[in-house]
Amino acid sequence: MRLNKFMASCGIASRRKCDEIIESGRVKINAKTVKKLGTQIDIKKDLVTVDDRAIRIKGDFEYYILYKPVGYVTTVSDPQHRKTVMELIPESRKRLYPIGRLDYNTSGLLLVTNDGDLTQKLTHPSFELGKTYLVTVKGEVSLLDIAKLKKGVDIGGFVTSKAQVNLIRSNKKESKVKLTIHEGKNRQVRRMFLSIGKKVTALERIAVGKLTLSGLSEGECRPLFENEIKYLKEL
Ligand code: URA
Repeated sequence: MRLNKFMASCGIASRRKCDEIIESGRVKINAKTVKKLGTQIDIKKDLVTVDDRAIRIKGDFEYYILYKPVGYVTTVSDPQHRKTVMELIPESRKRLYPIGRLDYNTSGLLLVTNDGDLTQKLTHPSFELGKTYLVTVKGEVSLLDIAKLKKGVDIGGFVTSKAQVNLIRSNKKESKVKLTIHEGKNRQVRRMFLSIGKKVTALERIAVGKLTLSGLSEGECRPLFENEIKYLKEL
């Protein structure tokens, strides 16, 4: 099979865009960089990597990582006709859906798949995969506030578990906080800050476990690499 066709079948990009990626030297066949367009591969034997990570033809299951922008809902369709994150994912015959949710006004890392077992595992309340957020808050956040968030706060009928919380910067106008939680109550981060009297003005999920948004711009997605799928399945 032609290399660009193979890459496109893996969901990397359109064939033309794949040619650009090949020419830029990011693609290797069996650990050797290939820049020649029109190269043929044996899909049974050859190992193709992009940026040193193995790619594979989309099988029954598809897995994407998306950098969700603000202004999209994380449902497959929306009765209010707002834009949905599915508009940002390549068309598929599979019934893909987001794993978990992010608020309309939250940006950041969202996984999209049709793998029901993985979705169930990752979204089960007993599952403790850390989710890291960059939080922008109106006004000053004190070290006492940070200590409260770390210990756990009452967000209305639920006390949050221990969290990792770092104050990045704070002044009278605005503060930035990095926070990792292992739960996923509805609007949890916004409610945690409300419980200490602070209003969140921007919220971005920057990591899920060890997966990050590295290399993606807002609105962009890419298929997960083999090693990333393996990581999530083995958690
Ligand atoms: N916490 C929130 O408040 N909103 C999100 O979208 C995610 C976590």
